[in-house]
Amino acid sequence: MSALNSTILSPIASEDNQLITGAVGAAAILAITAIYYAISPKDKDHGFPKLRGIQLYHAWNFFHRRYDFLQSGFAWNLGKSFSFNVLHHNIIALTGEDARQAFFSNPHLNFDQGYKILMGAAPDISDVDMATDETGGGVAPFNKRLNKLLNKARLQSVLPTLLQDIIGKADKWGNDGKNGRIDPFTEIYDLVFLMTARLTTCHDLTKNEADLKKIGDLYLTLQTSATPTSLLLPWFPSPARKTGKGATTELYIMLYTYVEARRQAEPTSDAIDVLIAEGETTQGITGFVMGVLFAGIINTGIISCWMLTDLAVHPEWKEKCKNEIRDLLSRHLGDSLSSATLCEKLGAIPISAWEDELPIIDACIRESQRIYITGVTLRRNLREDMKFGAHVVKRGDFLAYALGDVHLNPEYYPEPHKFDPGRWLRPDPVPNAIYPFIGWGVGRHPCTGMKTAKLEMKLILAMFLMRYEYDLVDKDGKFPDSLPVPNRNDIHQVHVT
Ligand code: HEM
Repeated sequence: MSALNSTILSPIASEDNQLITGAVGAAAILAITAIYYAISPKDKDHGFPKLRGIQLYHAWNFFHRRYDFLQSGFAWNLGKSFSFNVLHHNIIALTGEDARQAFFSNPHLNFDQGYKILMGAAPDISDVDMATDETGGGVAPFNKRLNKLLNKARLQSVLPTLLQDIIGKADKWGNDGKNGRIDPFTEIYDLVFLMTARLTTCHDLTKNEADLKKIGDLYLTLQTSATPTSLLLPWFPSPARKTGKGATTELYIMLYTYVEARRQAEPTSDAIDVLIAEGETTQGITGFVMGVLFAGIINTGIISCWMLTDLAVHPEWKEKCKNEIRDLLSRHLGDSLSSATLCEKLGAIPISAWEDELPIIDACIRESQRIYITGVTLRRNLREDMKFGAHVVKRGDFLAYALGDVHLNPEYYPEPHKFDPGRWLRPDPVPNAIYPFIGWGVGRHPCTGMKTAKLEMKLILAMFLMRYEYDLVDKDGKFPDSLPVPNRNDIHQVHVT
């Protein structure tokens, strides 16, 4: 018995020892790096003023309270761009119109690396041991696949099913013992998850609630395991790194299994089947689906939630949106479908009408986006040193630009925190400004999911407004004394005071 015990125990003990040795080693490296950067923070070559203080502390803040950290850096540098270190990486935090224009339009700035190294959260396919090169491929092949799936004809054919998805979820809201009360930041977010999976995966997955939930949880795990250590020291076996790798692998295996099952089944018009018919490999499709569920859900989910909240706080705009949907229905259907269900009526409206004939709803979505899409976009200079205004951006440097720099700028948007969709309905809303609205990206990387995201949000809103009278309430069922506010350091989080 004791022999057995010792054989079982010894490998575990030695693994512990390795971990401890690794942890001490990493701590020593971090400490040395911290001291090095703390005592040599000046960066004479680059010209961008370097934020004083302990660079490791700045790095920690950059990962944990990114938006607030950049704001305090700009305040320190009297409203101008500055730089700081994240370990050996030089990061330049940009502000102002010239910087914004260069950031979004310079062809030498790389999109993928900025996010991969400084953001994490998205599944990194190289973490999956069984994946090959064909699984990844960068943003260009990703966009090509998106265009195959999210074109107008395909959106039109999926429209009735998307509306069924909304009704299916909404029907449960009235029957879950909560007296018709929902937390949009859970329920609407989950709905967007379902709709995005519908558009980009297959029916087998969308009808499996347990697997959808599991996949949602794995993305959440990935997000929480994207710590500075796991991103910047990927070779170090920290618990977060192991958890992230495990979640990515689990996600990969789940989705791979669905793709392989579709390959063996009768072809349908499901997204995965479309990609199979195009000759794509199972690995390629799996990698794509992992990326699209990440890229397609977070922003669409969050803006859908805020849009409904904003309209509840501003009933005059809610009423205008409602009337616009009524007009759309009567313009396109008249009395022709008078006995049809709401779902059938909305499903009979052409995609082009959803896209082009709802200016008030477009203005409301844009206004919610302006107020809440304020997060930090990233790039990396992989080419030679380049002039950036009066300064130099060296090869290897990272650039960070917070969209709030323009979206919440009172020079462009008086009373920037006020929800006022009317500002988009006036002629020339932001005169003489370069890239005043970046809610869908601009320049070299405009959002390829914009039309789909807008459609999803409009369908949710139309169904909500036509089916329900709804209000914002607190836990006591009253209009809240203080309204929810976004946590700009973490778009998933909402403060309710
Ligand atoms: C309300 C919803 C959405 C918002 C607010 C949004 C916003 C953005 C923004 C601001 C960018 C530019 C990022 C940068 O320049 O660094 C972007 C790019 C991108 N978005 Fe979206 N997005 C949304 C929905 C979607 C959806 C549904 C998809 C896919 C199904 C998607 C796929 C992409 C892709 C692939 C890019 C990179 C394009 C490229 O580099 O060529 N987005 N998005």
